[in-house]
Amino acid sequence: MTNHPETAIILGTGLGRLAEELEIDDEILYTDIPNFPVSTVEGHSGKLLVGRLGGKEILAMQGRFHYYEGYSMKEVTFPVRVMYELGVKTLFVSNAGGGTNPAFSIGDIMIITDHINLFPEHPLRGKNFPTGPRFPDMSEAYDKRLIALADEIAAEKGIKVQHGVYLGTQGPTFETPAEYRMFHLMGADSVGMSTVPEVIVAHHCGIKVFGMSIITDLGVEGKIVEVSHEEVQKAANAVQPLMAEIMREMIRRS
Ligand code: HPA
Repeated sequence: MTNHPETAIILGTGLGRLAEELEIDDEILYTDIPNFPVSTVEGHSGKLLVGRLGGKEILAMQGRFHYYEGYSMKEVTFPVRVMYELGVKTLFVSNAGGGTNPAFSIGDIMIITDHINLFPEHPLRGKNFPTGPRFPDMSEAYDKRLIALADEIAAEKGIKVQHGVYLGTQGPTFETPAEYRMFHLMGADSVGMSTVPEVIVAHHCGIKVFGMSIITDLGVEGKIVEVSHEEVQKAANAVQPLMAEIMREMIRRS
């Protein structure tokens, strides 16, 4: 790899399309990277893309690892450690989430301002890596300057964005109505099964983070209907171009 990207993207639900816009210099299969896990979920292929987007060198993870697949937290977050070792300074993430905020609609883009970690295992459990302190501060896990930049870009382009707290839970079940209600009472605006572990490790590595959640279904009393992975994908795909537009411009300007 001759590039030295300082920006990485985890191409989660909603950002897959961004990969098509990358001017790719190199593709590394996860199976060719020592200790890298291999993804199993439909809709998530597994390779590291090295290329350029908006004139910036980028490292993109095509396919992420979820705790519900059976990986340990160390495995789920290993790619972020690799990013750190490669010199990455800023990480962009996306996910699909169930909206628990009654003001949200399906297809909304939510800029993640903070998170609640409800995973049963902490990604920093065990011997502390010297990338950060034993007891890391989490008062600004999502970079305020990047949030402001996203707001500015969204306003310029006339793209409606929500702000909110993302709650990460292990899955693989979607929530019962009572669980959605509980998560909302806890302070969540969106709930999903990813992102939080990677963000914690990135933050511990001093990597700045920006994240967005696509609201693909609603966990709001009176609006709860049966939800499936296919519907989540469909709702997310419809919003992809807008989310990609914001990310692309953020990368160009940051
Ligand atoms: N719950 C958990 N994860 C999700 C949801 C949800 O409602 N929607 C998309 N991912």
